[in-house]
Amino acid sequence: MTRYERLAQIMATEIRSGNVAAGSRMPSLRQIIAQHGVSQSTAARAYYLLEQWGLVRAAERSGYFVAPRPVNGKATQAVTADEDEATTVDISELVFSVLDAAKQPGIVPLGSAFPSPTFFPLSRLAKSLGHAARSVSPWSTVVDLPPGNENLRRQIALRYMRIGISQPADEIVVTNGALEALNLCLMAVTQPGDVVAVESPGFYAALQAVERLGLRAVEIPVDPQTGLDLDVLANTLRKHPVRACWFMTNFHNPTGVTLSDAKKKALVDLLAQHDVPLIEDDVYGELHFSPDYPKPAMAFDRHGLVMHCSSFSKTLAPGYRVGWVSAGRFAERVQRLKLMTTLSASIPAQAGIADYLEHGAYERHLKKMRLALRDQRDALCAAIRRWLPAGTQWTIPDGGYFLWLRFDKAIDAMELHRRAIGRGISVAPGPIFSATSAFEHCIRLNFGHPWSPRIDAAIRTLGEILSETVKGA
Ligand SMILES: Cc1ncc(COP(=O)(O)O)c(C=O)c1O
Repeated sequence: MTRYERLAQIMATEIRSGNVAAGSRMPSLRQIIAQHGVSQSTAARAYYLLEQWGLVRAAERSGYFVAPRPVNGKATQAVTADEDEATTVDISELVFSVLDAAKQPGIVPLGSAFPSPTFFPLSRLAKSLGHAARSVSPWSTVVDLPPGNENLRRQIALRYMRIGISQPADEIVVTNGALEALNLCLMAVTQPGDVVAVESPGFYAALQAVERLGLRAVEIPVDPQTGLDLDVLANTLRKHPVRACWFMTNFHNPTGVTLSDAKKKALVDLLAQHDVPLIEDDVYGELHFSPDYPKPAMAFDRHGLVMHCSSFSKTLAPGYRVGWVSAGRFAERVQRLKLMTTLSASIPAQAGIADYLEHGAYERHLKKMRLALRDQRDALCAAIRRWLPAGTQWTIPDGGYFLWLRFDKAIDAMELHRRAIGRGISVAPGPIFSATSAFEHCIRLNFGHPWSPRIDAAIRTLGEILSETVKGA
């Protein structure tokens, strides 16, 4: 159990025992720091947990109060792991609470994982959907069962061809978004208790999948400039019976980093030496700002070990929930798992997207979207330079729509998140991107929304909160 969890447990016991009346003021952060000899970050995170468990309520600028009706929340299990130690994962509680807080209407969505819906050619898509729905054969319910709509798989195969990858359409399995593809791949190659290598920081859904399937995770560090640490991975593969890796090679979530071709090739070669499959999450690859799609790792695969997962959720039609996996030698297993779990992706949505890819102007739409995202990235960087503290560090991604910020050690990202929500702004705090207590001074910001005075003002507010937080430390 971490220090803040231990501290939260002590305070929770006190509240549940009834010794502190509902509505009464809890000790201030300063008092907790003095009483328990803990850091500001530990005290703030303990309060954050108490809030999630429904035991206290925060009042802006007034501190914490005992909640009227304590709810028996499920405590987050302690997880501590050395860089190369396999661990069970229990991160969902934290992730759900952060995602829930960001759902409030009218919030400035800097913590969101989605780009602005205004980017998407929704009326043109609706035309394709309408056309497909009218012309779809009643037999397609059966014919389009996994691996999925043939025309759509052919269109996806053509997109692979554009980036120099010859991909047979019959190895592509259509899924409900990339997330299902990633989960099915993990199920296809692991058994409960197996060890899986994931990234740190990394997409929280990978950790949740590991948690749900009863797997153990080894977190491999990702450097925001150079990406995945292959030396640590090589070491881990020697030390642990790793059954699969789940990595992002292009425009990594949350850091935005892309692996060089040389590194992708080295990664694929290393995994081939150990016969370990790579589940490659490439949902942002199409959103590149330089002229070409950065080749995915699957382009270097000679052994059918890479399962390349992507979707149209980030680029075209988030609500349609259409994704896919090009599953190499695992295609049949993934296809069966798809049948056994959710049977099929939506038949009209598959046919509609296939029609759009064939007759719509996907390439033109993507070009427009990439240019807009690049401008928004630059505007965000300018606002960060202008409003955030001088010591703030970040790397400039060449695609996607995430920026990863690192602050001074005095800043606690969970506390920043909480205060920002109080002022109508969401940010994605670093701790949700790791099963350990890492990245507590980092946040991810989304630049997928058209730049506006409102977003600029939100960055300015973050700057104010940051300086208040440092002063209050
Ligand atoms: C890195 C990453 N992979 C996968 C997904 C899920 O994609 P989909 O919406 O297609 O299921 C997301 C969505 O946030 C993501 O950020």
